[in-house]
Order: sequence, then structure tokens, then C-alpha cells
Amino acid sequence: MAQQQKISLTRYLVEQQRADGLIPGQLRLLLEVVARACKSISQAVNKGALGGVLGTAESENVQGEIQKKLDIIANEVLIEANEWGGHLAAMASEEMDSIYVVPNRYPQGEYLLMFDPLDGSSNIDVNVSIGTIFSVLKKPDDTPGVQEADFLQPGTQQVAAGYCIYGPQTTLVLTVGNGVAMFTLDREQGSFVLTQEDIQIPADTKEFAVNMSNMRHWDEPMKRYIDECLAGKEGPRGKDFNMRWIASMVADVHRILMRGGVFMYPWDKREPEKAGKLRLMYEANPMSWLVEQAGGAATNGKQRILELQPTKLHERVSVMLGSRNEVERLTKYHAEKA
Ligand code: AHG
Ligand code: MN
Ligand code: MN
Repeated sequence: MAQQQKISLTRYLVEQQRADGLIPGQLRLLLEVVARACKSISQAVNKGALGGVLGTAESENVQGEIQKKLDIIANEVLIEANEWGGHLAAMASEEMDSIYVVPNRYPQGEYLLMFDPLDGSSNIDVNVSIGTIFSVLKKPDDTPGVQEADFLQPGTQQVAAGYCIYGPQTTLVLTVGNGVAMFTLDREQGSFVLTQEDIQIPADTKEFAVNMSNMRHWDEPMKRYIDECLAGKEGPRGKDFNMRWIASMVADVHRILMRGGVFMYPWDKREPEKAGKLRLMYEANPMSWLVEQAGGAATNGKQRILELQPTKLHERVSVMLGSRNEVERLTKYHAEKA
């Protein structure tokens, strides 16, 4: 049997560029650099205690969360890898209060990069899967320089989005608006190799992901949905459901892309003034686009996440995404209450 040729991320991007022009040269370079940064974060993650990367740093981020050492390391790796390449105008991150404009000693590019450098921070020290999430926008070209307002574009404007999961395998999952492709890191070769193309999420599922300990704080439509799942075969859904909650969005979304399911981090009464826990620009938007590109759906219970107009960089949002029929049901329950 002829040996199947391995397709590297580099080759995949070049072929996408040639085939349908979805990836202009600067964007291709940007994605290569992000992938390289993820490779290096993956190495730091692998070293764990041996690399002195575990534990807490003595600082808080803008959202009032105590930073882990790896949150800061991953943020620095992404900035250092990306600032000099000429493909970016600015970056924004969960771990930085405001935007990071590419210093003027380097050439300026036309893209804006946003990231959650290390998603699932509470899992770092316990050796459970974590990841990096990223979203790419084009800088509007009607303004000189670059400011925070340039980033405030709805998720429909993304030109690339993806994540890298640091788990039993290191895997990069990417969309440029042409379906979802997955690349596994070949550590011997040091390159990401295409391992799955055109990923599809089944429309139906029997698996949900939510932090059940918050149930008493939820809104009524959320409670109704989960109560019905929990009622199993004897309940209105007529089937038994299974539950998974990894507490790394990256890992929960990855499972959903691989075998279906629905993920929820809804608004709740603990902090009623916050729309949710997760952040719109660098968590919900990239994940929602990946999920939609794989045939799934993503809403905040009321509207499609990708159509939300952000008003600030670190805006939060309620998130329900995954298998289409379940997300539609959740959205219907919210509409019925309204
Ligand atoms: P981050 O580590 O980037 O702050 O994100 C953590 C998020 C997300 O990955 C996960 O789904 C959720 O927080 C878990 O929250 P709970 O600990 O409240 O379950
Ligand atoms: Mn996160
Ligand atoms: Mn994070």
C-alpha cells in the first residue's frame, strides 16, 4: 500500500492560499507564527514542574483573576513571536489590560490578533488539558494608527480563528472560513500535521457540559433545559444524557468538535451585572465560529454570538454552543420565557 503523504500546516496554508485566496500572504505568515508560538507553549506545558512553570504568579489580570505563571509565560511567548513579523498592527489578550500596539521599530501589518494565551488555568497544576485560543480580525483601513475601537468588531468579521489544545496530544484546530481542520503536533518532526479535515458536529447529542454546581443561580430556561436532560428516558426528552465538565473551554469544545455535545456557561445570579463568565472577543467568538463552521450553532441564549457588537475588549458573554438542535432548543426556551 502506498504510504500516505503527510500534509504539514505550512503546506495546507499554501494550498488554501493558492486554491481560493482565502489566505492572503500576511495571514498565512500570521497563522504560521501563532502555530510556532503554540509549539513553544506546548513545550513549556510539557516540562511542568521540571521547567518551573507551575504555580501562581504574584499578580492579577484586568479581570481580577490571580495569574498563573503559565498565563504570563504563554502571553509573552505569543507577543514576542508576533510583534516583529510585519503581519500585525496590534494584539489584545485576556492577560493585558489594553491593546498591545506593534512597536514602531517593526513593520506594521494589517491584522489584529486576540488571544486567551492559556485557557483552563485552574487545570495547569493538576496536569489536565489546557489550551490557547485565538481570533484574527482585519484592522479597518479608514483610521490611521490603531486603537482599541478597531478591535470592537462582531465575530462575523473574523478572518481566522482557532485553538491549540495541550493534552495527551498537542492539537491545533483552525478555520479560515472554509470548514474546520485539525493538525496534530509531530514532536519528532517539530511540525503540525493535518490529521482531520472538514470536521462536523452531529446535530443531535446525548452529552452536555456545564458547571452543575451553579444550577441554583441559573435563569429558569437554563434550569428547565438541564432538568429535562436529567430526567432521562422517563422525561420529556425520552433519552438518557451523559455529562462532562473539564473546566477548560478548549478541552470541552474540542470534545464537542470530535463527537458532538453542547457546552454552556450561562449568565447567573451570582454576579447579575455580568453577562457571563467567558469573554466574547477571545473565547466565545473564535469558538463560536469554529463550531458554526463545523455545522453547529452558538448563541448567548437569545442571539447568535457572532453577531453581537462588542463594546469593550474584555466584554463577557453567556455561551451556549455545540450540536445544532440542542442549541436551538436552549435558545427557544429562552425566547419562550421572554
Ligand atoms: P481561563 O482559564 O482562560 O480564565 O478560562 C477558564 C474558563 C473556561 O476555560 C472554562 O470553561 C471555565 O472558565 C471554567 O469555569 P468554572 O471553574 O467556573 O467551572
Ligand atoms: Mn479562557
Ligand atoms: Mn486564560
